[in-house]
Order: sequence, then C-alpha cells, then structure tokens
Amino acid sequence: MSEYGYTISIDGKFVSEPDAKVSVLDHGFLFGDSIYEVVRTVDGKLFAADRHLARLHGSAEKLNMQLQRDDQWLLQHWRDMHAKRGGVESYLRIIITRGVGPLSLDFTDCEKQTVIGIAKPLNKWPDHDYAHGCKIVLAQVRRNPKQSTDPAVKSGNYLNNVLALQEARAQGATEAVMMNVQGHVTEATTSNVFMIKDGVVKTPALKEGLLEGVTRGFILQVCQKLEIPCEEAVFTGDELLGADEVFITGTTRDVMPVGFIGDHKIKLTPGSLTIKIANAYHEMLHDPNNHQ
Ligand code: PDD
Repeated sequence: MSEYGYTISIDGKFVSEPDAKVSVLDHGFLFGDSIYEVVRTVDGKLFAADRHLARLHGSAEKLNMQLQRDDQWLLQHWRDMHAKRGGVESYLRIIITRGVGPLSLDFTDCEKQTVIGIAKPLNKWPDHDYAHGCKIVLAQVRRNPKQSTDPAVKSGNYLNNVLALQEARAQGATEAVMMNVQGHVTEATTSNVFMIKDGVVKTPALKEGLLEGVTRGFILQVCQKLEIPCEEAVFTGDELLGADEVFITGTTRDVMPVGFIGDHKIKLTPGSLTIKIANAYHEMLHDPNNHQ
C-alpha cells in the first residue's frame, strides 16, 4: 500500500508504490503516448467492462497501437486489481503506453508496451452535490479539435483538461465545461454534459469532438427506454446557461445534477427529469447483465 492507498501493478505484477516505476524513456512519459480506461465495480463486479474494452480498442486504433494484451487478460487483470485491493467498490484504471524506445517521436522501435494498473476506492463525491447540484464553470481553455488528437481517444494527453480543471478549482467548482474552437459545448474535463430544455434532453454530438462516455451511452439508452425526447445536438455555452436542468455524467460520478454554472443558478436543481434519469441509471448499474 502506498501513502495514497493505491494498489498498483506493472506488466501484470503487483508492486508497492515505491517500486512502481517506469523508465524515463517510456514514450507514455515522454510524449503522453498512452491510452487508458477506468472501470468501476458495482456490487463487487466489473461494470460495463465490455464497453470500456471496445473504447480502448478504438483509442488504440486511432493511435496505430496494436494491443499486446488480449481482452481476456485485461478483464482478468481488472478483476485481480479489485480482488487484490480488497475493498467494497473500486476505481480500476489500466494504462497502456507505447513502451520504452529511443528519444524520438518515432515509435517504430518501441517493442513492448507498458501496462500499468492503478486501483483505489471508488470516488465518494459530496452528498450535497447530488441533493442540491454541483457547481461547474465554462472554461476559457478549448477542447482540442477532432483534427488534432481526437478527443474520442482516451489518451495520456489531458493537458487541456488539466488547465480547465484548474479554472474550475479557482472558482470553487467541481468541473469545467470546455467549448470547441467553434464555441460549441463539448464535455467537461472527466465527464460528459447534458442539458434539458422544455422537456428535451440534449448532449453534444460526437462530431463536436468529445469522449464517447460509457455513462453517456447508458443515459441515451435510459431516455429511449423512458420515452424522454433526447438529442445528440450542437449548443453553445449561452444555451447551457439557459437550460431548465443540467447534469454531468461519468464512471465515478454517475448522474450529478448541476446547480450553478459559475455564478449563474440553473433553474431546477435537481429537476424532476434529472431525478428520473438518475434513478433509471442506478437500476442499470445494478443489473447483472451489465456486469462482467
Ligand atoms: N473519465 N470525458 C472525459 C474527457 C473523460 O475523461 C471521461 C471519463 C468522461 C466520462 O466517460 P465515462 O462515462 O466513460 O466514464 C468524459 C474517467 C472516469 C477518468 O479519467 O477518471
């Protein structure tokens, strides 16, 4: 156990935190040339690991990375990380880097990918944020366009998100929403964004440049099931401010209602549709069909 209480593995071997070291020539360290996925447990089982694996493959393909570990290995390692940690519910991150190679952007000589596992207790966000809505901000930092490293890739390149979160923290907020260069809403630093106006749920379309959140996907399914009108749409920060209800979603946050965007109070917090959607999502979380 480290001073943070994390359970760590390198290339499948569990190591103590002081021994958890990778080479300075690992391209993950040098260039952020890595991908990752975060799976959580529900009732001690992996939740939606199949969807996380599919996204991991998508990330790898977009970076021309042929994964050296197969799905069975990755699934088992997520399970082993949870078992090794020994707690109730876990946050389980697997990072795959390009590996060690010469000091060059060229990765042809990086032969062996580095696989790192980090497990910790599942985040506990303040109850107040669920009961009364959290505070978020609209960041000045823009989400990088799809034509650069596509934000659909869950990569080790999170510097824009790091800077945006710093803006949030400076204003006492939990999350920061980033626009793209056109000024359209994309997503927050580690969560997706939804708005509700006149009974219609909207979330930014993937073409705006964002991560296709696993939770986002479940929420789209939930809306369909509950017959709540739902659109993948294009909207601006001003439209978000004018919403009746706003919520953010992610593996650790589930559905978190938004009470304030900066100093602007959202009309209904939490609104009745947000509550309905959150409850239906909780049922999906505990559905054994979604466990691996
Ligand atoms: N982050 N957008 C970004 C940029 C993210 O990093 C994440 C997840 C999400 C939500 O996706 P999902 O519903 O699949 O968790 C959206 C994880 C939790 C993290 O980095 O810890």
